[in-house]
Amino acid sequence: MSVGIERLAVYVPQYALRLTDLAAARGVPPEKLTTGLGVREMTIPAPCEDVVTLAATAGARLLRAADVDPDEIGMLLVATETGVDHSKPVSIFVHDLLGIGSRCRVYELKHACYAGTAALMTAADWVRAGGGRPRRALIIAADIARYQVGSAGEPTQGAGAVAMLVGAAPRALVLEEQSGTHAGNVHDFWRPLDRREAIVDGKYSVECYLEALAGAFGTYRALERPVLAAGEALADRLARLLYHTPFPKMAVKAHRRLVELDWRAAGRWRDGDTTLEDAAATSYRELAAPGLEAVARVGNTYTASLYLCLAALLEAEGRALAGRRLGLFSYGSGCCAEFFTGAVPRGVETVADAGVAALLAGRRFVDVDGYERLVRAGETGGEPPADFTGAFVFAGVRNQRRVYARPGALAA
Ligand code: HMG
Repeated sequence: MSVGIERLAVYVPQYALRLTDLAAARGVPPEKLTTGLGVREMTIPAPCEDVVTLAATAGARLLRAADVDPDEIGMLLVATETGVDHSKPVSIFVHDLLGIGSRCRVYELKHACYAGTAALMTAADWVRAGGGRPRRALIIAADIARYQVGSAGEPTQGAGAVAMLVGAAPRALVLEEQSGTHAGNVHDFWRPLDRREAIVDGKYSVECYLEALAGAFGTYRALERPVLAAGEALADRLARLLYHTPFPKMAVKAHRRLVELDWRAAGRWRDGDTTLEDAAATSYRELAAPGLEAVARVGNTYTASLYLCLAALLEAEGRALAGRRLGLFSYGSGCCAEFFTGAVPRGVETVADAGVAALLAGRRFVDVDGYERLVRAGETGGEPPADFTGAFVFAGVRNQRRVYARPGALAA
């Protein structure tokens, strides 16, 4: 039985800031952000948006594009680290806004940026466990990445959501069953319950990410070893490699490490051999760089980051990738990581438009003052701006309850 992603849809809020403007305001050379981190723009949500409206908008876009009756959804999972309540899950608000039936398993998952992959794997296992019974799951990864204004993390902020339909007729990505995982308790990035912005040990978080990549990829590669010819690198069998991307330079570092691990395991490389650097740079351009265009313009979307890369990649070059395999690496601080693979089915181009290019083309750029005003305002709720692109609005808290509405319904 083939199980995987039937279709993806993306939502990215409409406000964006150019990182060259941020660099000027912070007195930093622009190349430090554009080349050093690889980021060009970052997304900022409107005050009437929160993680519920981001997730529900992506979900609504997906159900409409795939022409799916909400009653067909038997499992709804929302992965996020921007939860709105310690008890009530984001997923139950989304369930209501999307009009999904009551015969549905609904919950929220958390493990930093890894939760999107936790949701995908859980949904795929649930579909497989149904045997011949038709099962379809809707999973949504949604987050708003916030760091202190003026901190080193500030240029890596972002916001967005990716919705995925998981079932037994995967037209976007067939998930292969084996994967390599890695977990361990580290304090690289966390957000205590009373804080809006994350606390991060930035340089250490990069090390933890690379350690987890070594653990997860090493486990996966050992499983794949029997099918590899002597001296063959696993990367030679993959058409693209997608990485969790807090900022594009992280994918450069990850790819360099993966090639080293792969070559060592294949017996192709020993310490002091200089051919690795050139080979890693060349294979980065071919295998990894094509997946990074959208993320360089959106910023970190935490749980959604890897899947934003996937959606944008399939949208840009799905037809050319049909019949080929992708490698995906998911990392969540704290930490848990997974390396897995999937095959792009023939005919993918019929479902490949996830809305990424259109959303990015329609965004409105604000200046640094405008960005800081939006950050200070936070999630106040209320009327959407005139050119609002979301499908739902956070109206505010009434009688200690969060209230959501369609954009036109508030004025009525
Ligand atoms: P920083 O202070 O910008 O670091 O913080 P830097 O001074 O090392 O500079 C960054 C790069 O810019 C360096 O390149 C410099 O050489 C270069 P590298 O050596 O790394 O290749 N540079 C320049 N390049 C060109 N022209 C110049 C110039 N000046 C310097 N003039 C840091 C960087 C990543 C620490 C910071 O942005 C941060 O704290 N970010 C947030 C944490 C993060 O994203 N961590 C990533 C791994 S953990 C993860 O991915 C999980 C996460 O998504 C959360 C979750 O799981 O929920 C974050």
